[in-house]
Amino acid sequence: MTLGSHSALRGGIHSARLVSHASEPYLGPRAIQTSRRPLRSLSESEGRMKQTIRLTVNGREYSLEVEPRLLLAHLLRDHLDLTGTHIGCETSLCGACTVLVDGRAVKSCTLLAVQAEGRQVTTIEGLAEGAGPDRLHPLQEAFWNEHGLQCGFCTPGMIMTAHQLLQDNAEPSEDEIRHGLEGNLCRCTGYQNIVRAVQSAAAEMRGR
Ligand code: FES
Ligand code: FES
Repeated sequence: MTLGSHSALRGGIHSARLVSHASEPYLGPRAIQTSRRPLRSLSESEGRMKQTIRLTVNGREYSLEVEPRLLLAHLLRDHLDLTGTHIGCETSLCGACTVLVDGRAVKSCTLLAVQAEGRQVTTIEGLAEGAGPDRLHPLQEAFWNEHGLQCGFCTPGMIMTAHQLLQDNAEPSEDEIRHGLEGNLCRCTGYQNIVRAVQSAAAEMRGR
């Protein structure tokens, strides 16, 4: 297991390189604007389109001006610098972007930022909060101990989905774990060690 793997558990893997397209600024109307109106007018127009939202992310309250079309995944990555939330497909297939919204696992590429108004959002960076300094959440520890990751790209989403799974079912069978994680794709591990990691975390969390 490499340093990069450990970093992935906290959401720090080289995500910017893996999804560099996701961090490009949204150009929107300006990119396709062909009128002769001066740029100042365009900026004013964009400003009017923005909407103020308030939400809590990893225990911190934010008030942000966002475009109504902004996805929650992009809000987290591009506005709050929480790049542990990965973007793989943007079509609700891979699960790499999964976060918790009011405690439920949600693919953040399927939710507009404005739909998160008033919600509590938890990302992989916030999962271990309350565990103590330099401590990981039991799921993060278990993925490390059971070698449940290789490149780490799917890992934050896997862990957030597994978190909900264990909230709903403290002692899932192997089949239930595989079923619970079927919306999250991993191209590296073959899933066996991921299943073991969830079983191990479940046992640890039951013993608390
Ligand atoms: S990026 Fe959201 S499901 Fe793939
Ligand atoms: S560890 Fe590489 S995609 Fe899952």
